[in-house]
Amino acid sequence: MFPDPPAASSKAISSFLKEDRSFPPPAAFQARAAINSVSEYERLWNYAAEQPERFWAEQAESLLSWTRRWDRVLDWQIPHAKWFVGAKLNVSYNCVDRHLTTWRKNKAAIIWEGEAGETRVLTYNDLHREVCRCANTLKSLGIKKCDRVTIYMPLVPELAIAMLACARIGATHNVVFGGFSAEAIADRNNDAQARLVITADGGWRRGGLVPLKQNVDAALLKSPTVEKVLVLRRTGQEVTMQEGRDVWWHDTVDKASLDCPAEPLDSEHPLFLLYTSGSTGKPKGILHTTAGYLLHATLTSKLVFDLKDDDTYWCTADVGWVTGHSYVVYGPLANGATTLMYEGAPNHPDWGRFWQIVERHRVNILYTAPTAIRAIARQGSDIPARYDLTSLRLLGTVGEPINPETWMWYRDVIGGGRCPIVDTWWQTETGGIMIAPLPGATPTIPGSATRPFFGIVPDIVDIHGKSVEADQGGFLVIKKPWPGMLRTIWGDDERFKTQYWSQIPGVYFTGDGARRDQNGYYWIMGRIDDVLNVSGHRLSTMEIESALVSHPAVAEAAVVGAPHDLKGESIHAFVTLEASMSASSELKSVLAVHVVAQIGALARPESIYFTEALPKTRSGKIMRRLLRDIAAGRESRGDTTTLEDYSVLAKLRDSEET
Ligand code: WTA
Repeated sequence: MFPDPPAASSKAISSFLKEDRSFPPPAAFQARAAINSVSEYERLWNYAAEQPERFWAEQAESLLSWTRRWDRVLDWQIPHAKWFVGAKLNVSYNCVDRHLTTWRKNKAAIIWEGEAGETRVLTYNDLHREVCRCANTLKSLGIKKCDRVTIYMPLVPELAIAMLACARIGATHNVVFGGFSAEAIADRNNDAQARLVITADGGWRRGGLVPLKQNVDAALLKSPTVEKVLVLRRTGQEVTMQEGRDVWWHDTVDKASLDCPAEPLDSEHPLFLLYTSGSTGKPKGILHTTAGYLLHATLTSKLVFDLKDDDTYWCTADVGWVTGHSYVVYGPLANGATTLMYEGAPNHPDWGRFWQIVERHRVNILYTAPTAIRAIARQGSDIPARYDLTSLRLLGTVGEPINPETWMWYRDVIGGGRCPIVDTWWQTETGGIMIAPLPGATPTIPGSATRPFFGIVPDIVDIHGKSVEADQGGFLVIKKPWPGMLRTIWGDDERFKTQYWSQIPGVYFTGDGARRDQNGYYWIMGRIDDVLNVSGHRLSTMEIESALVSHPAVAEAAVVGAPHDLKGESIHAFVTLEASMSASSELKSVLAVHVVAQIGALARPESIYFTEALPKTRSGKIMRRLLRDIAAGRESRGDTTTLEDYSVLAKLRDSEET
């Protein structure tokens, strides 16, 4: 049986079915594109599917610099892959050093704009200098190859510098999104056994200060493995520096030696951990390694964004998410591109900010999230109309399904009807883009991520792993290993196996529902597990439930998502209180604040319902489907016969909502 898809998705499916608009690549775009016809796409896709090792070896040879060549392209002991076995290379070298011997040495690597409007440009030469200094500082702080380093920083160039410095010496970075709370930092520090935290005094968000160092201080009370903290002065706000533990960036990095050769590392050396939500238990540390990840990020950046040397490329993602890793930092820099970073919020000082940045820096390629597009579109088309957006030549989206209306708005209002849109489907676990149009080749249809990238062999299957017919919904799986795939869950290989490789034996289980149409186009329907997609960010219902239950007033909690115009999904919590506690609106606020303190502001419930009991099956499983209906304000669809206590449902409907 195909499980209940989130309500938002089932609505999307019906509108997808009506979609018959199709847009071929504009001729002017096609003329310059690296891959410029459907037949060329199909030829290469078939070649990569039939001879993946040959395909990837050729790409590895032409795109990356190696200090030692591989003995074998792939060692595949399902579910464990090793790519480019025996080879050595360095990611930081590939992203920085190798451009220094070319004309790119003085090309802008990073163009940065702060929230207040100040800008900085780092050429590849500048970047090299900073990365070397930072890497030497890491060494002087005792960090060695294989140590884990947590990075909790605002979106400033030093964040990319810190990542590249770790990669340079073989330390494994663990970037924690700056919106996460002290609790979340501590969890990640402990799971990763991090020895060092790199942070800043604070960051700017909508004109306010985010107390990053203070959060780290609180986290370190519960992070026994962390020995040192490296602190960048960003805002100048007051912070406490603990003697012997905390050092300033300007006292160390700025004074460090420029000489730091990149260490040749094994192709499977752990490059980074990135924690993401799964349907059960604590966040999972997704492990990505060196060569395969870099190759996947590099090739997809080059072809999906059709990167050219004269492009100014802007991916608006925070580097705290995988999109920022692969498509702000590693993919673009490995290609020698100019990547733009913007520190702040899209609505600061007003909703024109993105377009002001596009105009100011003459951005050519813009890659953002549907939630941002929806929020901006809602403010009216007259805002973008005030800016000169004619520099744009390509638009991209990622993170959640994009509704066709939003897609059309993006195309017409932002792209002036001139720019192809690449709707890119992928995951933290996949490392890089998996399903997306190639903008000079693939005709696009609003709402579809279109067709798989080279070397990626997806399928839509039923619960038994059998391929379903065209236009039937099913589970999206990937049938062959690919270079950027996660290698394991840090410290929990069993979970890696059960979560991704056991539901349907022999294939990678994405956790997304999808369908494939008659033309082989993929339509992603959203998560089929208990993971919410709020503003393009994955949150597990389980984590929010655990946060609620950790409050002494709460006996039991169930969290579900409901469709939300801007965020995609919003969070609704059903809470049963301890017998001694009574419901009140103050308590609702207290619980909301508690969730924010445990996880971060993005987990704040949209509403909290107090209830005497939760609807459960006789076997004790919470019937989330019913809760979803209530949260969405719908009549219950479907079967309630397994419900243990019918009266619960009626009581829930009567319970007051905030
Ligand atoms: C969803 C973000 C529809 C999907 C790169 C996936 C999408 C989850 C798309 C991964 C898209 C991502 N269309 N859905 N173009 N891109 N998703 O790990 O449910 O933060 O499984 O990686 O986002 O989220 P993650």
